[in-house]
Amino acid sequence: MSNPLPLTTLRDPATLRVLISAERIQQRIAEIGQQIDEDLPGQGPVYLIGILKGSFIFMADLARAIRRSARIEFMGVSSYGRGKSSSGEVRVLKDLDVSIAGSDVIIVEDIVDSGITLTYLKSLLEARQPRSLRIVTLLDKPERRVRPVHVDYVGFQIPDEFVVGYGLDFAEDYRNLKEVCILE
Ligand code: IMP
Ligand code: MG
Repeated sequence: MSNPLPLTTLRDPATLRVLISAERIQQRIAEIGQQIDEDLPGQGPVYLIGILKGSFIFMADLARAIRRSARIEFMGVSSYGRGKSSSGEVRVLKDLDVSIAGSDVIIVEDIVDSGITLTYLKSLLEARQPRSLRIVTLLDKPERRVRPVHVDYVGFQIPDEFVVGYGLDFAEDYRNLKEVCILE
């Protein structure tokens, strides 16, 4: 996003339209948690790897919707070229400090847009030889995909609109909204 909002419009309800209510988010997360429990019947903890910062609220709710023992890790990445080039260059800003070799791993993302970040992360983590590697995302904008990437669990498919809230930001604002909103 290149033209920042004037500060006076921050929190102005006219600029935000609720796309997904807090209640729908919670219902869907309960379903996904149950599905993950059914799909991972093996032993040992599952590593949930949240991608900072957007996934932090989703991570907190999803982790509690999973009954199997889970370990919480985070990675920080920055992706270059979105909207500018298709180079797909992604830089790791914060790596894991644990080994995932032989473990069940789930990458926890806020939103899949071009797919560049996840394509990169998937191959990076795949190389560390986890027993299984899955991806869960709260939101998916399929129309925007540049790199096809298989996502195992999708909370909601959404249209090509810029959304904020429930962890997602615009220039670091709006992350603490309970709902997912379209920023207009
Ligand atoms: P991509 O799939 O590599 O293009 O990048 C996905 C990342 O871009 C997400 O993890 C978000 O940080 C960011 N992003 C994409 N679309 C949106 C949006 O609508 N609102 C807020 N952040 C977004
Ligand atoms: Mg993100």
